[in-house]
Amino acid sequence: MLQYVTIIALFLCGINSQDTHEGDCPNIPVQGHFNLSEFAGVWYEAERSYIVFEEDSSCTKHTLTAVSNTKLNVLISLIREGGQSDLIDGTAVLNDKSDEAKFTVNLNLGPRYFSQPTPYFVLEADNNEYACIWSCNQVDDYSHDDFSIILTRSPNPSEETLKKARKVYERNNIIREDVQVVNQNNC
Ligand SMILES: *[C@@H]1O[C@H](CO)[C@@H](O)[C@H](O)[C@H]1NC(C)=O
Repeated sequence: MLQYVTIIALFLCGINSQDTHEGDCPNIPVQGHFNLSEFAGVWYEAERSYIVFEEDSSCTKHTLTAVSNTKLNVLISLIREGGQSDLIDGTAVLNDKSDEAKFTVNLNLGPRYFSQPTPYFVLEADNNEYACIWSCNQVDDYSHDDFSIILTRSPNPSEETLKKARKVYERNNIIREDVQVVNQNNC
């Protein structure tokens, strides 16, 4: 019953209901001199906060294909908890400038989940090893919610790479509540 209530509550709050915090979305600097074509390609989720449509998934992989200098096609493949594989497609479009790492992502989540345009900020990406994604949505005048994803080029990143990525959130005082290590073995 509790599980049922939780699912309904998450559904009503949309996909960004992960971590709710008081106040406005903090103003966090994003990666400078962003280069979309260098950011494109295959990324594996190493660690993520709770994201309802990816709940407990493993082998979660993002394939990003540049279709213009401001737009990526997004294909997320994952294996759900029961072992079923799934594909989610969509787009990521830069909000303003082609070198400012602020995207709006639209995913086709199907009938099971609530789809809405979602901000994706790339806080830092070296493009060869890791990228730090952060999304923040203002819920109302008093609160915001956010989620974070550490993406890595390798499905088995080194501890050194992960440390660099985690530090980006620490430095910006972003609390990654309920963070999960994403299993990328036996995919
Ligand atoms: C982005 O990176 C690509 C590949 O390294 C390069 O060819 C291109 O000139 C870069 N674009 C900008 C605007 O720096």
